[in-house]
Amino acid sequence: MKEKGTRVVLIGTGAVGSSYAFAMMNQGVAEEFVMIDMNRDKAFGDVMDLNHGKAFANKPTNVWLGEYADCKDADIVCICAGASQQPGETRLDLVEKNMVIFKAIVTEVMASGFDGIFLVATNPVDILTQATQAFSGLPKGRVIGSGTTLDTARLRYMLSDYFDVSVKNVHAYIIGEHGDTELPVWSTATIGNVPLDEYLQRHDAYCQEDLDKIFLDVRDAAYTVIKHKGATYYGIAMSLARITKAILGNEAAILTVSTFLNDEFGQNDVCIGVPAIVARSGVRTVVEMTLSDEEQERLTHSVNTLKAIYEPAMH
Ligand code: 2OP
Repeated sequence: MKEKGTRVVLIGTGAVGSSYAFAMMNQGVAEEFVMIDMNRDKAFGDVMDLNHGKAFANKPTNVWLGEYADCKDADIVCICAGASQQPGETRLDLVEKNMVIFKAIVTEVMASGFDGIFLVATNPVDILTQATQAFSGLPKGRVIGSGTTLDTARLRYMLSDYFDVSVKNVHAYIIGEHGDTELPVWSTATIGNVPLDEYLQRHDAYCQEDLDKIFLDVRDAAYTVIKHKGATYYGIAMSLARITKAILGNEAAILTVSTFLNDEFGQNDVCIGVPAIVARSGVRTVVEMTLSDEEQERLTHSVNTLKAIYEPAMH
């Protein structure tokens, strides 16, 4: 009897999904990786193309073209399917069309007997994460969105470049909507273990005005990349691989995923990007911290922006 390996099923093998598959293959995160797409021909080509590199992967992953029945024994089902932002579109503009697609996908996955963890990437990711929780009926902690993990990575990269320190020593979060209402939490950010405001006071070369501009570059990064190359996919794919690794590796890693708030940060009944402990059971708990008055106000605005879209879209 062949032992069952850790299995991830990917639904949607477009640019984001196939980049996620490539990241997963290179990092050897899962033992089994199943690819599903409406365009089975293209998905089959991706499977072949990935397997042709198997000999070079540091840990072999068995990749195959799958069916929804393969979700039954999956640890994680990652959904990247749906329409993506076109130039001039916001992520929230995609809600109508992607909500219909998600209802159909989640229904099919649950019909397989799936009892694992959903990882949602499609935009608007916060809205679709909450919709997937509603459609699936799974415990809230087992439906996770990529949230602002990519935005936090963008912020850490740009700050590491600005301060000329390793990105590993830049600790700063973007929280809120993965979108135009997201916000930086400057009040708890540190460089190494030095609070950011103290770091600025100790080094004249740096100033808050520069940080505020960096935040705008982070918030608008996707629009910029889309203008240059038509879509974003490498950064989000690496974020998805990071979240997957935290789950399968039972890491208890703190990542700003999109998760359901139940009084945390004074917010309820919304999925939104906040620091959360991610482990084998999914989101174990939200990591609350004291926000400045301005940060709290901006988070509330972000929550209300999402609620104003989610509620009508679900009825
Ligand atoms: C991104 O932020 C488009 O949500 C995608 O790259």
